[in-house]
Amino acid sequence: MKLRKLFARAVELGIEADPRGKEALKKMLKKQKEKFEKLDAKEKEFFDAERLWNPFGDSRIINGTGEEEIRTLVIGIDVETPELLLIDHLREMGRKIDAVMIHHPEGRALADLQQVMPLQVDVLMQSGVSVTRAEAQMRPRMDRIRRAIHADNLFRVERTAELLGIPAFNCHTITDNLVWGFMEKTICKKEYENLDALVSAIRDIPEYTAYAKKGNPPLIVNGSGSGRTGKIVASEFTGGTNGPEEFLEEQSRAGVGTILSMHVTEKTLEEAKKHHVNMVQCSHMASDAIGINLLLDKLMKEEKKLDVIEIAGFIRVKRSA
Ligand SMILES: [Fe+2]
Ligand SMILES: [Fe+2]
Repeated sequence: MKLRKLFARAVELGIEADPRGKEALKKMLKKQKEKFEKLDAKEKEFFDAERLWNPFGDSRIINGTGEEEIRTLVIGIDVETPELLLIDHLREMGRKIDAVMIHHPEGRALADLQQVMPLQVDVLMQSGVSVTRAEAQMRPRMDRIRRAIHADNLFRVERTAELLGIPAFNCHTITDNLVWGFMEKTICKKEYENLDALVSAIRDIPEYTAYAKKGNPPLIVNGSGSGRTGKIVASEFTGGTNGPEEFLEEQSRAGVGTILSMHVTEKTLEEAKKHHVNMVQCSHMASDAIGINLLLDKLMKEEKKLDVIEIAGFIRVKRSA
């Protein structure tokens, strides 16, 4: 499969799994088209054409033409210059590698990370949080993230990939949407005697099992193992990066008892304590790996010849469903 086709398919699967729903995303893309058409020639030069078909600001091809035939894909959760040198070294040793798929955004996918954050509002709405409150709290957080990232040295990784001739693409919110849906369905919708039982169910998922055996298990960071879970949500699994701490109070008011998260910030933890919300910090890398695995399961149904080399935190687990 060509890189362009593989990535376009990944975008489609990300759209299908998105908490905002397919229709909302279609509308969003249509609005982008209308906006683009109204621009004058000079402004069109600065418009990101990717936005006309791909609603995920943090997912895109960052190096390559798209015409590359992909048989062997290196996949890593954090891929920077050292990992690209590793790939180059593997190629020197005779491994045939066609491209690298990167989870955490690099290059323009990082520059535009805040664009995916509004989907967190829809995630929260599903647990009963007021949409106007969530939207109002989200805006300043998005501005903060944009300003912080804006000062970063954004294009180092894509330049290295360019120099080494390694086609590279980012799939961030695409696979985070998939793991969010998976956690909601397989974990959050069920009932547990207490928090310990919930954590044990999480640990039974193969990626978490593998990480737990290496000393990186899902952790209760707020709450007691013998305490009840209340309503469980995986509200910190997708949406680019952590939302504002105010979301903790909102979720508590909406009746959420336990939040599953990939990474809990200190401020969020403080709020969780204040508002009596249990928090389980699921292993970050294992969580990201689940999303990537769910994407690969679907892609590999269509492209049976795809081979994967796991690096930088990613572990491949196949699911048949
Ligand atoms: Fe992720
Ligand atoms: Fe992550």
